[in-house]
Amino acid sequence: MQQTISKLTGKIQTKIHIPGDKSISHRSVIFGSIAQGLTEVSNFLTGEDCICTMNAFKAMGVEIEFNESKRTLKIQGKGFSKLTKPNQEIYLGNSGTGMRLLTGLFSGLPFSTTLTGDASLSGRPMARVIDPLSQMGAIIDSQEGKKAPLIIQPVSKLHAIDYVSKIASAQVKSSILLAGLSAEGITSVSEPEKSRDHTERMMQGFGAGLIVDGLKVSINGSQSLSKLQGQKVEVPGDISSAAFFLVAGSILEDAELKLINVGINPTRTGILDVLKNMQANFELTNEREVNKEPIADIIIRSSELKACTIEGDIIPRLIDEIPVISILAAQASGTTIIKDAEELKVKESNRIATTINMLKKLGVKVQETDDGMIIEGRAGKPFEPIDAETVIDSHGDHRLAMSSAIAALHSTKPITILQTEFVATSFPEFFTILDRLKQGSQTAIA
Ligand code: S3P
Repeated sequence: MQQTISKLTGKIQTKIHIPGDKSISHRSVIFGSIAQGLTEVSNFLTGEDCICTMNAFKAMGVEIEFNESKRTLKIQGKGFSKLTKPNQEIYLGNSGTGMRLLTGLFSGLPFSTTLTGDASLSGRPMARVIDPLSQMGAIIDSQEGKKAPLIIQPVSKLHAIDYVSKIASAQVKSSILLAGLSAEGITSVSEPEKSRDHTERMMQGFGAGLIVDGLKVSINGSQSLSKLQGQKVEVPGDISSAAFFLVAGSILEDAELKLINVGINPTRTGILDVLKNMQANFELTNEREVNKEPIADIIIRSSELKACTIEGDIIPRLIDEIPVISILAAQASGTTIIKDAEELKVKESNRIATTINMLKKLGVKVQETDDGMIIEGRAGKPFEPIDAETVIDSHGDHRLAMSSAIAALHSTKPITILQTEFVATSFPEFFTILDRLKQGSQTAIA
């Protein structure tokens, strides 16, 4: 599938309801399925990634009622021990989170499971979870280079470990903590910088005792597992989806967007820090907390952006936003440096390479580095694509496709984006919202 997007002109002033957070939606199905009793989820993300995770548990005998139009789930949790062997392989689509978290959880099952994914997911590194899980006694068969499909063999019990991770990865941390639920004793994970902490918050919300001590998280496995009780979970809007409209609002000429219901968990708000450092015109209103997760509405207006350096421990707090932050940087005045972001190479695409390719197609001067990029800003001047007919290949990466679409709204020539079907993995409503903006939809934002 492909989409051609052209420049957006005129005033835009509108409200956008941000769909549910992908990370939290995955976790709501996981914890709802292994807890005792009813879990009711609202604002569940209906993206393909989360649907795959839901289908995994349905295939293992969990009763889940999914209302797609209302975005709700009713999960009749009967506990981890009541999961049953699926009749076939479990397909996790494009989802690294689904694959890595479920590998951890399923490592402690008394029957085997096979986890598969699409071509992108089958090329992504799984050693980062296979290695620590193997130290816990898990038996995981993989393909060459420790890639998926993964066959998780049955074990009678796992043992607790104290794992020091070299990378700040919430997927690695969560995978080990979920495996830790099947282990005797205390399982700990330490990370070099803080990664998103939705697993910790939700585990506590479901009643499991969990100790967070700086960069170290510990759980007492079997004790925690027996304490998990079904909950009502209201999923906050995904700041990673809001990011596209935060960038649109700041780079477009006469814009004021109000983004409703955005999760502002501090482990995810790196993009707000960057907007602040770049002197963007935005404010947070209606701050509140739901299910231990902070939420706000964000108003963003056209801005005169200044370049900045993005490095160090902010990187895990904005790792998924870097493709669209590169568009922001390309519209700032001055040179923006992004470093310490090697992890971009193992996302849904090699996001250093695919982001550089996107920027070059847009006529931006950019230099690739080993761990990021250096972007010369255009000081608000619309993108001037180099080719008469500009085609950007998103390489099957949803965030690249959406970042390119936002750039196209501020481009002298229309841009055709390839493989836009992957947007449905995380933000199925994206192009509908974009159409609404293009039709000049103006609603009072107050
Ligand atoms: C996620 C963690 C991050 C992020 C991904 C979602 C999660 O990955 O990039 O989109 O839900 O745990 P890493 O843990 O690999 O950094």
